[in-house]
Amino acid sequence: MSENSENAPEKVEFTPIGYVENDYFKPEYKEEVYEKVSKIVLREDLVDGLYRVEELEKLYILFYFSKSEGYKLIHRRRYDGEMSGVFASRSPYRPNGIGLTLVELLKVEGNVLYVKGIDAINGTPVLDIKPYMKDLEEKAKEKAK
Ligand SMILES: C[S@@+](CC[C@H](N)C(=O)[O-])C[C@H]1O[C@@H](n2cnc3c(N)ncnc32)[C@H](O)[C@@H]1O
Repeated sequence: MSENSENAPEKVEFTPIGYVENDYFKPEYKEEVYEKVSKIVLREDLVDGLYRVEELEKLYILFYFSKSEGYKLIHRRRYDGEMSGVFASRSPYRPNGIGLTLVELLKVEGNVLYVKGIDAINGTPVLDIKPYMKDLEEKAKEKAK
């Protein structure tokens, strides 16, 4: 371990900020989920954190693969059938089980976000929500050059 990582915490614990609600009940690949509307039901105590979220068109949803057990460091990727390391794939079987999906925000009603395109099953714990800001991200990179 390097000097820097010696000061880093060995364990990181999260409490879900909410849950996914939809009619996708089993963790199996289904193309149609990308066209489906799901609800993200946020904890009531966090609802103020949604201030101005309705101004956004797209959001990143970070979630936990709650139904995955274990992981393989090398596996066959579904999307192209090639062997790859887990960090070169979107596999739900990962050391930290974190999923990341870019969704379309349709509407917000109180603590409920209606989103299109989340590939997480019903009951999936949500860890964080972040705005997708294409212009901002690209501008920052341009500036740094
Ligand atoms: C290939 S992963 C990609 C997820 C995300 N877009 C990402 O890149 O991290 C999507 C698959 O995870 C599985 N999945 C969804 N929710 C899950 C959950 N709560 N626990 C375990 N697997 C889940 C489903 O089979 C779904 O097709």
